[in-house]
Amino acid sequence: MTMQTTNLPTTPVPFIPDNAPFDEDQRAWLNGFLAGIFSSAQPAVATEAPLSLKIAVLYASQSGTAEGLARKVTKELKSKGHIASLISLEGYTPAALAEERYAILIASTYGDGDAPEAVKPFYEKLCVEHFPRYQDLSYAVLALGDSHYEHFCKFGADLDNKLASLGAVRLHDRVDCDVDLDDAFAGWKHGLYSRLESIISTRPAKNASVSGIKVATTIAKPIPSDVSASAYTRETPFLAPLVDKRPLTREVSSKLTMHMAFSIADSNLKYEAGDACGVVPQNDRQLVEDILAMLNFSPQAPVQLPKSGTTSLLDALTNYLQITRLTRKMIEAYATIGNCKPLLGLLIPEQQAHFEKYCYDRGLIDLLHDYPGVLHDPADLVAMLPKLAPRLYSISSSPYAHPGEIHTTVAVVRYRSHNRERGGVCSTLLADRTTTGERRAIYIQPNKKFRLPQRSDAPIIMIGPGTGIAPFRAFLHQRRALSATGKNWLFFGERSAATDFLYRDELESMLKDKHLTHLDLAFSRDQEHKVYVQDKMLEQAPRFWSWLQDGASIYVCGDAARMAKDVEATLHAIVAKQGHLDAEAATEYVQALKDDHRYHRDVY
Ligand SMILES: Cc1cc2nc3c(=O)[nH]c(=O)nc-3n(C[C@H](O)[C@H](O)[C@H](O)COP(=O)(O)OP(=O)(O)OC[C@H]3O[C@@H](n4cnc5c(N)ncnc54)[C@H](O)[C@@H]3O)c2cc1C
Ligand SMILES: NC(=O)c1ccc[n+]([C@@H]2O[C@H](COP(=O)([O-])OP(=O)(O)OC[C@H]3O[C@@H](n4cnc5c(N)ncnc54)[C@H](OP(=O)(O)O)[C@@H]3O)[C@@H](O)[C@H]2O)c1
Ligand SMILES: Cc1cc2nc3c(=O)[nH]c(=O)nc-3n(C[C@H](O)[C@H](O)[C@H](O)COP(=O)(O)O)c2cc1C
Repeated sequence: MTMQTTNLPTTPVPFIPDNAPFDEDQRAWLNGFLAGIFSSAQPAVATEAPLSLKIAVLYASQSGTAEGLARKVTKELKSKGHIASLISLEGYTPAALAEERYAILIASTYGDGDAPEAVKPFYEKLCVEHFPRYQDLSYAVLALGDSHYEHFCKFGADLDNKLASLGAVRLHDRVDCDVDLDDAFAGWKHGLYSRLESIISTRPAKNASVSGIKVATTIAKPIPSDVSASAYTRETPFLAPLVDKRPLTREVSSKLTMHMAFSIADSNLKYEAGDACGVVPQNDRQLVEDILAMLNFSPQAPVQLPKSGTTSLLDALTNYLQITRLTRKMIEAYATIGNCKPLLGLLIPEQQAHFEKYCYDRGLIDLLHDYPGVLHDPADLVAMLPKLAPRLYSISSSPYAHPGEIHTTVAVVRYRSHNRERGGVCSTLLADRTTTGERRAIYIQPNKKFRLPQRSDAPIIMIGPGTGIAPFRAFLHQRRALSATGKNWLFFGERSAATDFLYRDELESMLKDKHLTHLDLAFSRDQEHKVYVQDKMLEQAPRFWSWLQDGASIYVCGDAARMAKDVEATLHAIVAKQGHLDAEAATEYVQALKDDHRYHRDVY
């Protein structure tokens, strides 16, 4: 192969030409490698600045946002001439990190302020490190989260602090991004890129034209820079017609859960069983009008939105801004504009519990009601409101069984508080304000961590109470469509068999023809004491254990707050009892299931 050379004054450094048979990542890596080798063979020129840096862009992601941002950063760094590799923290090791000179980490938070499930092993290993082996590492963290959660961006913050405590040096301060992350991301990138430029322009290179290159003992596999992305994304969603809409709960039930199917026949949208469907919501028009009336603002008042430009206040409040929940930033802005002493008092750390209680079941309309007369300019209202975020729904169809369609299983959020009937923005949009034939803006949120086993004969155990059934309906249909021979066991739970047995006919028919090997049901409110899916798991403990011994994969979907934790505790108990293991060995067994990709959770 011919190698081209750069015009450096000393021995030329070879580089791989664009037409060489390598992809972009391989070419970038090889160029960096050659530059490192050749320049280290040259005499040191103390005043020569490095031309570029070798930077690891690491991400901790569950539903793809951090991965997407990391991908963008990698691409931009490459276009600036750096040798950047995109690496998932899943399967990565602290030892590999210690080999890096520059690392950028983009990390989302889950659970009780934890790392995304697949990244926990990396972080656990990092946490047991206590000697400062990272003095050579310069790094920057971007933390992703959602300020509605108690532990906002906590994993990103923990990671940042842990690296600093192990001797690594911050290139740039951490930024914590809320759901509406565009501005925070842009600001963080801007600061970080300026810092990298200043390193290049001011730092004398010892003997390398690519700084940060070490011949690493562990080279993480770079991830290809493109996934077969659809043209339709969260930013540019597909307007899909609703083609089927029916209640899955009976009219007399205490709750409403709906089956909603969209046609994607006219799109190039592709998905796999296990993925989620993102829906771009709209606020309830009546609520928007009530708010406008309270403020005495004209619906047609022109307002500026950061990305969308000028629009009417009515459009901004309906389509772009979140009005049904309160956040600290909203209350801070409102209290400051109105110099509202009681509200300002609620913001002090000692009042955290009262603050949370106030926000728990109130929205913008309550703030306007409780503290009136503050806003006089529509621009102030628009500036204080966060962006309305899309909602995700686990897809309950399989592309092999339902070509051209995406099915969802939507629990409709309704409750009453402070003398007002309230509805979840997106679930009521779908249930109450979307008729068959109408289009809604949707996109696919891939969930690569929640896939059927590659071996079609592997047994699977699915635990999905409530809407947690959604991806398991997809799995069951997919396995049938692909004639997979693996055994299927489902644990499903809901309030009452008579009213809330979601997809009853389908499941009973699959049980009858043995596609579903076992179906265990927990109807929590059909008897005096509560019966939950984990009670059924315990009842079936010997069989559960024998399926695990036969290589079964476990999947859990649904409520994260209580169900997923209780199910995990039950899994530990079953493993300990049936396997005659002490608590520590049972924990190791469950960890091994996770490491072997045999224990998957999609919880919300
Ligand atoms: C990966 C993933 C998959 C998901 N899959 C599904 C699925 O398959 N099916 C499904 O139905 N949902 C699913 N969800 C949840 C879904 O995304 C939405 O969060 C849900 O539909 C509520 O959205 P909403 O806009 O209707 O309600 P929102 O407007 O977001 O309102 C919900 C909020 O209302 C408040 N609230 C609700 N009830 C009460 C109450 N009684 N008292 C006080 N406050 C209350 C809470 O603050 C709650 O967070 C999934 C979420 C994720 C992250
Ligand atoms: N739409 C609403 O008004 C509403 C209400 C509650 C929750 N949610 C939230 O909406 C999401 C989806 O709710 P969903 O409709 O799928 O149903 P869900 O609220 O998750 O309930 C499904 C079943 O799980 C049971 N359950 C409750 N606690 C459990 C636990 N610790 N372990 C195992 N099972 C448990 C419920 O019983 P019991 O309810 O009888 O205890 C019910 O039988 C969840 O995140 C949930 O937190 C919404
Ligand atoms: C089930 C669930 C739990 C979450 N828990 C937290 C949390 O404790 N703290 C937080 O700041 N954000 C939390 N988030 C918000 C995510 O961190 C945020 O949406 C992030 O952008 C997701 O990034 P990812 O797509 O890369 O996984 C949670 C989100 C979900 C769906």
